[in-house]
Amino acid sequence: MSEELLHAHRDLWQRKPVLRSIYQDFYRRILSACRSGRSLEIGGGSGNLKEYSQDVVTTDIVATEWLDAVADAQALPFADSSFANIVAVDVLHHIEYPVRFLDEAQRILKPGGRIVLVEPAISPVSWFFYSFWHPEPVRMNADPLANGVADKERKPFDSNQAIPTLLFGRHRKRFEARYPRLKLVRLERFGFFAYPLSGGFRSWSLLPAQLVPSLLNLEKRLAPALAPLMSFRLLAVLENAKSG
Ligand SMILES: C[S@@+](CC[C@H](N)C(=O)[O-])C[C@H]1O[C@@H](n2cnc3c(N)ncnc32)[C@H](O)[C@@H]1O
Repeated sequence: MSEELLHAHRDLWQRKPVLRSIYQDFYRRILSACRSGRSLEIGGGSGNLKEYSQDVVTTDIVATEWLDAVADAQALPFADSSFANIVAVDVLHHIEYPVRFLDEAQRILKPGGRIVLVEPAISPVSWFFYSFWHPEPVRMNADPLANGVADKERKPFDSNQAIPTLLFGRHRKRFEARYPRLKLVRLERFGFFAYPLSGGFRSWSLLPAQLVPSLLNLEKRLAPALAPLMSFRLLAVLENAKSG
């Protein structure tokens, strides 16, 4: 089922230029926040990052012929201090226990290396949209730092869209206490009109691809005013301590 979904996403990527334009913006944000050196992508899914960056090892918990390796982000099959960056789009909120990923990320990142994530952001407007028009749940009472026994029935697309907002918002002090060597060096909220109007990985779109660049420019200018009220997306950049 998960593999079929990833194939469907890969087909849609080819057929939906508006989706590629939106993701191009995500990838540009991610790549401009990366340190120079080799990156690891977790949860690579339909596998499009390689169109924008060559120096990346692409992985997912689901095996596909287009990714470099199968890897559960909670138990990464890579050596200590082996990557300059770990990058992901829409993966943290699918990981059963995000702390296991963060522990592993700290282990395999080089000193000064970065975790760069694009995730859903829960704002008053996006909460409404994600809660009532999106198939994935938004559970604001979850503990984003929870750990426990792995659920054998869990599927790769099971999720809680609130996890990133909780981790870097309401639970940020707990996050900082648990990960003093992992500094949140950037947290940007963005994605106001273009992303929700594009329909993401759904087959529909209310936005012609030609309008995406000007709409994204407008969003950039309006970001300071709109971000607290209606951001659908966040970019989080975490930096591993340099030494000691
Ligand atoms: C919403 S998709 C995002 C895919 C891709 N990054 C994109 O933006 O199109 C979430 C991906 O996370 C993967 N995933 C879920 N749990 C994972 C885990 N524990 N480790 C690695 N990947 C995981 C899923 O298989 C799926 O491909």
